[in-house]
Amino acid sequence: MADLPRILPTEITPERVYERRREFLKGSLALALYGTLPAHAALPAWRKTAWGRDESPNSWEEITTYNNFYEFGTGKDDPAKNAGSLKTRPWTVSVEGECLKPRAWDIDALVKAFPLEERIYRLRCVEGWSMVIPWLGFPLAGLIRQAQPTGKAKYVEFATLHDPKQMPGQRWPVLDWPYVEGLRLDEAMHPLTMLVVGLYGKELPNQNGAPIRLVVPWKYGFKSAKSIVRIRFVEKQPATAWPRVLPREYGFYSNVNPAVDHPRWSQARERRIGEFFKRKTEMFNGYGEQVAGLYAGMDLKRYF
Ligand code: MTE
Repeated sequence: MADLPRILPTEITPERVYERRREFLKGSLALALYGTLPAHAALPAWRKTAWGRDESPNSWEEITTYNNFYEFGTGKDDPAKNAGSLKTRPWTVSVEGECLKPRAWDIDALVKAFPLEERIYRLRCVEGWSMVIPWLGFPLAGLIRQAQPTGKAKYVEFATLHDPKQMPGQRWPVLDWPYVEGLRLDEAMHPLTMLVVGLYGKELPNQNGAPIRLVVPWKYGFKSAKSIVRIRFVEKQPATAWPRVLPREYGFYSNVNPAVDHPRWSQARERRIGEFFKRKTEMFNGYGEQVAGLYAGMDLKRYF
């Protein structure tokens, strides 16, 4: 595997906020309008990393008003309008299943337990759009190591909160709720895979999956489950949300792959939100150097 970009030790937390004052101000306005700024302690200090520093991130406005979060409606602007009903404190993430050290993590303890870092990653949605997002979080691998998975743990399953009172979209059978996602254990342990608690140096807005979500940048966006309450080590490949309802359209792996089309959407090109012309989609969303080795010898048309 190629060298991973280094942490830049001289970077200090609030710098990017000042750099991006305009986005920040727009963001504050959006938060005021939608009322999703949670009333509790801010995030601990975090450090910037070299990840994605050559990319220009989408604005706070774009990232927080154009969303997929079917628990709050199927329109792109529904999550920003409706996700205020989600209560993100208190919040517990249960780590369970095939592991020696299962644990119910209080979200605030979890956020303090692992050093936070900013990484700018591309997010490529299977629908054909993409964004570049400055996430704040930590590698999932650290949490997994603490849990000490047993030899039987081959996959990791992630489940979103299931509570139709807080998540009105769950009153409709669009998906078989709760939203469940999964990764092979080696994918979950890969240093690119993150648990995310913020963006642009701020706490994650509800519409982006507060208080904690998965981000797997080389896979289509739907793999990055939001508002997670359960992480479970399992022996068998989990039955995940989208393949369960449309198995011919969505596969378990869902690695970004311009050569394998979705039946309804070509995957060869994508539209970066905010841009007019489409750009070419890259294999593994541009992270092939880091992740291609995970799939050596696998037929990625069959395991789509
Ligand atoms: N997680 C849950 N629980 N419910 C969802 O509907 N949508 C997925 C993913 N995670 C979704 C979810 C899809 S299709 C995408 S593209 C990304 O979230 C979008 O993340 P963003 O809104 O932060 O850009």
